[in-house]
Amino acid sequence: MTPQSSFARYNVRMHDPSRLQSIWESPEGSGKVSYIDQTLLPHKRVVRRLKCFEDALEAIILMRVRGAPLIGVTAAFGMALAAQDCGSRFFDRRFKKHARQMLQTRPTAVNLRAAVDYQLNALTDIARPRQTRRVLLRSARQFMNQEIRYSERIGRFGAAVLKRLYRKKRKKLNILTHCNAGILACVKWGTATAPIYRAAMEGVPLHVWVDETRPRNQGASLTAWEMKECGIEHTVIADNAGAHLMQRGEVDLVITGADRVTANGDAANKIGTLLKAIAAREYKVPFWVAFPTTTIDRTIRDGVREIPIEERPQDEVTHIRGRSGKHILSVQLTPDKTRAANPAFDVTPGRLITGYITEQGAVDASKFRAIH
Ligand code: MRU
Repeated sequence: MTPQSSFARYNVRMHDPSRLQSIWESPEGSGKVSYIDQTLLPHKRVVRRLKCFEDALEAIILMRVRGAPLIGVTAAFGMALAAQDCGSRFFDRRFKKHARQMLQTRPTAVNLRAAVDYQLNALTDIARPRQTRRVLLRSARQFMNQEIRYSERIGRFGAAVLKRLYRKKRKKLNILTHCNAGILACVKWGTATAPIYRAAMEGVPLHVWVDETRPRNQGASLTAWEMKECGIEHTVIADNAGAHLMQRGEVDLVITGADRVTANGDAANKIGTLLKAIAAREYKVPFWVAFPTTTIDRTIRDGVREIPIEERPQDEVTHIRGRSGKHILSVQLTPDKTRAANPAFDVTPGRLITGYITEQGAVDASKFRAIH
């Protein structure tokens, strides 16, 4: 990794982000798929195997894997593993039942549907039923490699946006991000984090404000872990601190991922993203959203009305998990029997978004709507 010459004078002490991967097949072609259990990070790095369809289902439901692109990749491998349970009699009927089950795991991220459709399409290439598992594994591998390529390209296009901003400001960039739209939410590089890693590799001086992201704290536990692993300067902040920092001119740009983006540019992302977008508009901070095109749902336009929002268990709000000494514990925050609501995502209307970064390029909001 050689920093590009115009930025080379800044000594960015980074570790290579491309050495981190959330899910992998090893050895390639073996069907042995492993992933990092994200429910234990940052305290323990535990690797688990996907041995059957149920393992993939469980990994997604329990959020051992999470983040829109990674949910899709896990589902693609899960559907390949389903082929071994379906036998040859009534294969189609059984396989479609598994597909329906998979689609019900998490409703908001459209990448899940993209992955299941990808595998259903791959079935049409199969001449003999005995080849099914092998063909679907190959197809899952292709889907995963496609996501890696998309993240790399998002990094390059997004880095150009950050470099432009740096040339204008001529000072260290303060970038705010919400949730984890990083390596752990994808396979490699991330979406919102890919431009950050790439720009830092190319010598742009930057610092990241990491929203803690209640209730599950994906920012405090996962994004902070990734930033530390990659040697990126960062500070975790309480979710409520973002607007205050913007008001004081301490945020140069906000960048988030997305779980579903409609044809007119409305973007569903982790709960709390909308508040950041409203504050960014008030304080004239550019607000960018980065995602692969597998996150675009061209069948809908009005995200606020049409994107299904996952409602998650109350105990994620009433309780908080963390480490005490050697143990990972959950402790209660609220009085006994307090009712809690837990919508897991919100929708940021396209009009609050400055621009979009996909593997096809970085475009401002009006251009995105014209293309899609
Ligand atoms: O509930 P999660 O952790 O799956 O939610 C993840 C997010 O909201 C991410 O920001 C989003 O999936 C973008 S991932 C590149």
